[in-house]
Amino acid sequence: MPANAMNEGRSVSVNDPKCTAAVELIHVSKTKPVVLGDSVTQLQVIEDVSFSVPKGEILALVGPSGSGKSTLLRMINRLEDPTSGRINLFETNISSLDVRELRRRVGMVFQTPALIAGTVADNVSYGPRLRREDCDPGEYLDLVQLERDLLHRPATALSVGQQQRMCIARALANRPEALLLDEPTSALDQTAANTVLDLICRLNRELGLTVIMVTHLMEHARAVGTQVVLLVRGAKIEEGPADAFFRGPATEIGRRFLQGELSNER
Ligand SMILES: Nc1ncnc2c1ncn2[C@@H]1O[C@H](COP(=O)(O)OP(=O)(O)OP(=O)(O)O)[C@@H](O)[C@H]1O
Ligand SMILES: [Mg+2]
Repeated sequence: MPANAMNEGRSVSVNDPKCTAAVELIHVSKTKPVVLGDSVTQLQVIEDVSFSVPKGEILALVGPSGSGKSTLLRMINRLEDPTSGRINLFETNISSLDVRELRRRVGMVFQTPALIAGTVADNVSYGPRLRREDCDPGEYLDLVQLERDLLHRPATALSVGQQQRMCIARALANRPEALLLDEPTSALDQTAANTVLDLICRLNRELGLTVIMVTHLMEHARAVGTQVVLLVRGAKIEEGPADAFFRGPATEIGRRFLQGELSNER
């Protein structure tokens, strides 16, 4: 059976009240080749991970360094593909979508702001410009609470915190249904990080945006997450409401992780 056979003959839109899973991972595994001397071995980076992110939730994807968080996030945007398993976006297998359309619908923001050469306006209107659509970049600066005076400055002239908010504005200009954030606050000082965390909560609340945020900072996961998935050595260890996880993890591994006893374990 083709991987996307389940979607045949069905048309499920983001506004369909029956469709509540924004992103769904179904038995996703990923191996990566590692060269050791003359031989190549396959490293199991993600192992049979399944979970779903309900529409409008903020999922904090946490785990020790090297546990596979970035790999998982990158697969949702098809920067990498699973070795096996399936990922759905509003019940459509993402492998059946045009990659550009997928990346319009699912925005991604990285730890280090990824800048396009040019002004802030050039950066924010990048996606709509590629699609030859109109875009008022000032509207998106308003959304991330950056002054419109910055529009004609080179993007490189912004502070790192401002650049990160500009990258979020650039993703928003594509009118995405979900946002993937890979350690968006790790390169920022505490004040700039708090501004970005407040922004994530506000966008979620006001636009109903579904968010998956990878972070190794538990206070940041706690500040924004409504749901948590804990990944250790490529496997899902815990999944559930954030408040329950932070009150008391269901597993011994989860407890050890929150105690800081699992850092850098792989
Ligand atoms: N290109 C690659 N080739 C081989 N192995 C890789 C490659 N990229 C990542 N890995 C391995 O895959 C595993 C998962 O890496 P990944 O970057 O997804 O982890 P992470 O949880 O995001 O870690 P961190 O918190 O340090 O960012 C690690 O063991 C890493 O060494
Ligand atoms: Mg990572």
